[in-house]
Amino acid sequence: MSDRIAHAGLKSKVMTAQEAAQFINHGDMVGFAGFTGAGYPKVVPPALAERMEAAHERGDEFKIKVLTGASTAPELDGALAKANGVEWRMPYQSDPGMRNRINAGDSYYSDIHLSHSGPMTEQGFFGKVNVAVVEAVRIKSDGSLILSSSVGNSVSYLNAAERIIIEVNSWQSEDLEGMHDIYNVGLPPYRKEIPILNPGDRIGSTGVAIDVDKVVAVVETNAEDRNSAFKPLDDDSKAIAGYLLDFLDSEVKAGRLPENLLPMQSGVGNIPNAVLAGLLDSKYENLTSFTEVIQDGMVDLMDAGKLAVASGTAFSLSPEYAARMNDNAADYREKIVLRPQDISNNPGLVRRMGLITTNGMIEADIYGNVNSTHVAGSRMMNGIGGSGDFTRNAYISTFVSPSIAKGGDISAIVPMVSHVDHTEHDVMVIITEQGLADLRGLAPRQRSRVVIEKCAHPMYKEALLEYVERAEKATPFMHTPHDLGASYDFHRRFLANGSMKPEA
Ligand code: COA
Repeated sequence: MSDRIAHAGLKSKVMTAQEAAQFINHGDMVGFAGFTGAGYPKVVPPALAERMEAAHERGDEFKIKVLTGASTAPELDGALAKANGVEWRMPYQSDPGMRNRINAGDSYYSDIHLSHSGPMTEQGFFGKVNVAVVEAVRIKSDGSLILSSSVGNSVSYLNAAERIIIEVNSWQSEDLEGMHDIYNVGLPPYRKEIPILNPGDRIGSTGVAIDVDKVVAVVETNAEDRNSAFKPLDDDSKAIAGYLLDFLDSEVKAGRLPENLLPMQSGVGNIPNAVLAGLLDSKYENLTSFTEVIQDGMVDLMDAGKLAVASGTAFSLSPEYAARMNDNAADYREKIVLRPQDISNNPGLVRRMGLITTNGMIEADIYGNVNSTHVAGSRMMNGIGGSGDFTRNAYISTFVSPSIAKGGDISAIVPMVSHVDHTEHDVMVIITEQGLADLRGLAPRQRSRVVIEKCAHPMYKEALLEYVERAEKATPFMHTPHDLGASYDFHRRFLANGSMKPEA
């Protein structure tokens, strides 16, 4: 047995994953640790999936309600989806198998803002939490846990659950101890203030106190996190990053941003990573990041001495960078803070510190509404994640996307978004490889021209302008003119002919 379990009582609870999975039953609500491919339990979920499959073969029902931090990895979402063992799930996911289950109607999905998901669970909004399954670096002699490469909603699930299963993963560096900042905000009417003024402020403890009597199983593992590598930077990503960096330069010149900018939040993906790569070559120094996940580009910025501090709830590192983090966690923990996701994504803190936010989108419309989640109105892609937590309260909110998808058959700029995640009231800047539309202070009719001129792909500009003219003739009301009979023509063409192109 590893020396990572220092509590005698919990040492006696060590068992196999198969034995631990017996504590999870059909109909249970289970709160899993994990955020992106980091810090999720790695052996109990596959053992549970085996139990589900065996039950299904016998003709018995076996489905559970799944709570996580956000997306996880093939061993968790993937395995449970393959076993068709998820009745309902919350919040963000991005596993192809899970996505297919949701879109096929096999699993219900409640796509909740990430900062709300933990507190809403503790408030009892989704019912009783039967089991929490978390991953820890080690268990201390007082029974408290040092979490691993994500904090996510683990604290909420440990608080709310009736039974606790702990995976102690010796692959995770013990030097992660000290990186976490665990602070329990509590529930109304006793919710506390969060005294964070700067991204690096630490206000809590490094470990999580738990009720050891609730622990039913401890499982030892030695398994790496599963994050995928970023694609090499392509020309579109570089162009988008270039427009954003020029925009930030002009904001500094205009006196609206300080010389070291304001804390940055970046969504996950290739474009936000290109922005981070662009910052590496920029003049900016002493940058800070108050974001959701710590990505490769931030590690590079730290190594170059340009990023002073980064706050998040999890790592989302490629395998190469995850290994680097594991080898050097003692050095990085001075500059990285991992927080529960209701604090890493806290809207009040986002507003207080004045964040510059950058998130991906599926499509934007000519008036500045953004769809981050659904293809053609019905098909779920991933989920809103933290994009709403950050965007609504940002100092400057930006959205990024290539102007076209699927070889040009899809325009990211459409007359009316087929689903709304971020309304025109929250979206300040839209950027594609074509250009940057600064929508601050513009009325809807002014926005429509700027969005089309700056962001639409040339092959869709004419059709979009035609729609604007048609809409302005179709209604006497000139604030946000729409021709409702035609506003989904782009999407209708795509569904009927596989292309939004006017000639399709
Ligand atoms: N219609 C249909 N499909 C579209 C599309 C559109 N308008 N725009 C993009 N896509 C497809 C792409 O073709 C690609 O599909 P593929 O995987 O089959 O190749 C996929 O969506 C991803 O697009 P990509 O351009 O590679 O961008 P991305 O990886 O940055 O993802 C989002 C874009 C919107 C899906 C992603 O940013 C997301 O999930 N956002 C919501 C959550 C969020 O913002 N999290 C961060 C908060 S901290």
